[in-house]
Amino acid sequence: MRNLCTTIAFSVLLACVAAETKSEAPTTAIEARTGIYDPALDARVEALLRKMTLEEKVGQLVQYSAGQPTGPGTGRTDYEDMIAKGQIGALFNISTAKETNAYQRIAVEKSRLKIPIVFGLDVIHGFRTIFPVPLAMASTWDPKLVEQSARIAAREASATGIRWTFSPMVDIARDARWGRMTEGAGEDPFLGSEMAAAYVRGYQGMRLDAPASIAATAKHYVGYGAAEGGRDYNTTEISEHTLRQIYLPPFRAAVDAGAATIMSAFNAINGVPASANPFTLRQVLREEWGFRGIVDSDWESVRELIQHGIANDRETAARKAFLAGVDVDMASSVYHDYLAALVKSGQVPEARIDESVRNVLRVKFALGLFERPYADESREAAAMLRPDGIALARTVAERSFVLLKNAPGPGGAPILPLSDRFRRIALIGPLADDLNSALGSWAGLGRGEDVTSLEAALAQRVGAQSLVRHKGVGITDGSDADLAAAVAVAATADVVILTLGESGQAMTGEAASRAHLGLPGRQQELLEKIVATGKPVALVLFSGRPLTLPWAFEHVPAVLAAWLPGIQAGPALVRTLFGDSSPTGKLVVSWPYSVGQLPIYYNALNTGRPANKKDLTEPPGDSDDMYVSRYLDERNEPQFPFGHGLTYTTFRYGPAKLSASSLKASAPMALAASAEVTNTGSRAGEEVVQLYVRLMGTSVAQPVRALKGFQRVALAPGETKEVTFSLRPDAFALWNDRNQWVVEPAKAAVWVSPDSAQGTPAALQILP
Ligand code: NOJ
Repeated sequence: MRNLCTTIAFSVLLACVAAETKSEAPTTAIEARTGIYDPALDARVEALLRKMTLEEKVGQLVQYSAGQPTGPGTGRTDYEDMIAKGQIGALFNISTAKETNAYQRIAVEKSRLKIPIVFGLDVIHGFRTIFPVPLAMASTWDPKLVEQSARIAAREASATGIRWTFSPMVDIARDARWGRMTEGAGEDPFLGSEMAAAYVRGYQGMRLDAPASIAATAKHYVGYGAAEGGRDYNTTEISEHTLRQIYLPPFRAAVDAGAATIMSAFNAINGVPASANPFTLRQVLREEWGFRGIVDSDWESVRELIQHGIANDRETAARKAFLAGVDVDMASSVYHDYLAALVKSGQVPEARIDESVRNVLRVKFALGLFERPYADESREAAAMLRPDGIALARTVAERSFVLLKNAPGPGGAPILPLSDRFRRIALIGPLADDLNSALGSWAGLGRGEDVTSLEAALAQRVGAQSLVRHKGVGITDGSDADLAAAVAVAATADVVILTLGESGQAMTGEAASRAHLGLPGRQQELLEKIVATGKPVALVLFSGRPLTLPWAFEHVPAVLAAWLPGIQAGPALVRTLFGDSSPTGKLVVSWPYSVGQLPIYYNALNTGRPANKKDLTEPPGDSDDMYVSRYLDERNEPQFPFGHGLTYTTFRYGPAKLSASSLKASAPMALAASAEVTNTGSRAGEEVVQLYVRLMGTSVAQPVRALKGFQRVALAPGETKEVTFSLRPDAFALWNDRNQWVVEPAKAAVWVSPDSAQGTPAALQILP
């Protein structure tokens, strides 16, 4: 094991070392980036810690919402007084420089030790310049763009004194019923890890103490997205193997990228609430990964240990969460009320309080708060909605759209991009001018008035005389007369752009789980009536998750998943619909055919009786076709697989090729995996080429495919390129039956393909 660990790639190496020995040293990259791993800070932390009373130490572990609440309030109004007494270390939900400075003045000028407050906020997909929702940002498969948008968010937020965002959400989501799928990067741990690191780099910049850098929070640690039935806050059951291979990697990637904070989740994992879970919080995060930043609870998740049933009173909740590894209590006030008493009664060692205070002070020093505690009020307004941010918001939106279907229209050519033949365009449906929906949930300080709607952008593009508009129905309401009027309008046009979907704010995000994933209200009726007119229809779907719309996918020739595109919704959509920009987004979640299939994810295990014969690695046994893993009344396959996304040209893939046909598990080496990709259409295009691996014959069953790489290639019409990936040894590593990261002897298959369902694999032997 030790030999193997020293020969395989760095991230696996760290995990191996961790499994064997305990913690490992942080990398120099992290030190340079955040400072929380910089030993030079420790002396400052220790010097300050020595001066602190127990009550002042506890104060650093207390965080309250002092503004527009994002959860039930504490009812406290005495924050000024508490700050002056050193009883509060962090505040959130305040969002102007004037307010943050007013509180900061009390901390820095009136409290005994002058320890600055760190101000936080949910800056999730932009602060004032609102980008597409994170699920859409991930659909770009472009970590660089994600990093750049996080930088813009950090620039704006920091101008108000906010130096801490509760983002990125790196929860793996396999169930579209869960409303918070919209906040993450989808179902895949590899892509999720790339996105997690990109957000952290963007928020924290090269130096955390730069004025425009803010501390990132990887949340919700851990397994929150596995909520049973997709019902928010619900319990999760996750084996250690699945936790290690699926749910933990994006957190690990965030920590490796230098994330200064981690938020503990609301859910219980195998009966132990994540906010009182010593295994995940202490063993994995601190001892194995060597994390040196803050573990913050989620909103009142410490007090909620009572509701979970592992504490019968607030004092026990405080003790259990704290001893399990939650440093800071967000909003529930139980640390404030009980921690000092718990130390005095001997139930919590003061050394443990010191440890948590160190974590907090380290982040505050690393942020440079002691040197620069205040925001510059004179520069706040100018930091918002700057042209470079707006331009980036449009680019990211364009790149996030996923062209799900684009079948030929009446003239034989695909409906999209819209041709000049369509002189009169009907824009129908409730979401073409719904400004708040375009913003999506957790839209920071975003305002509807900042959004350019599809209706406005289209009117500008084609002129009012070429555009007829009817809302049809509302998202959840509408009358027969509305439907009839919309149909009458459609009948006058050459083409219909239909904008349907879910409410971006009311139906997505926290506490927005849905048991039915069709179109709400009377939108399905509207859709069917418009299609019945026989006019060519392009459906633009607005949603924070995939919607189950088999009828639409069968009957509507063109469907574009626009997600919730942010302030540049209209310009980005118009440029895409008319072909100034080609859609190149790819799905980061399997798009279900029906709710009955959920949870659905491509990287599933094969089972002993796979329904799909191509998943058989051996000839079938005695069981005939009846006794296989399937539904009697539903297909197994999703509507669209993970990785799917069309564009305005087409590509052909050759079979995957490998630079070697075998490697040794005891000394794994990097391989080259490649395939020829040809642009078979008549337009230039870009394609996100994907690399997948399958391992067979291992000690623990492995997914039928697992993403291990992706890259974007641009191809002229007719052009062929050999697309080559470096397949690092850690692509073959797995969490084995003895709880270690290893490369095991196996039969492997490698695909270079346009999505998770297609491609011709190359075979590889992993020898002992
Ligand atoms: C609860 C949410 O779960 C979390 O994501 C958010 O950061 C906090 N509230 C703070 O608003």
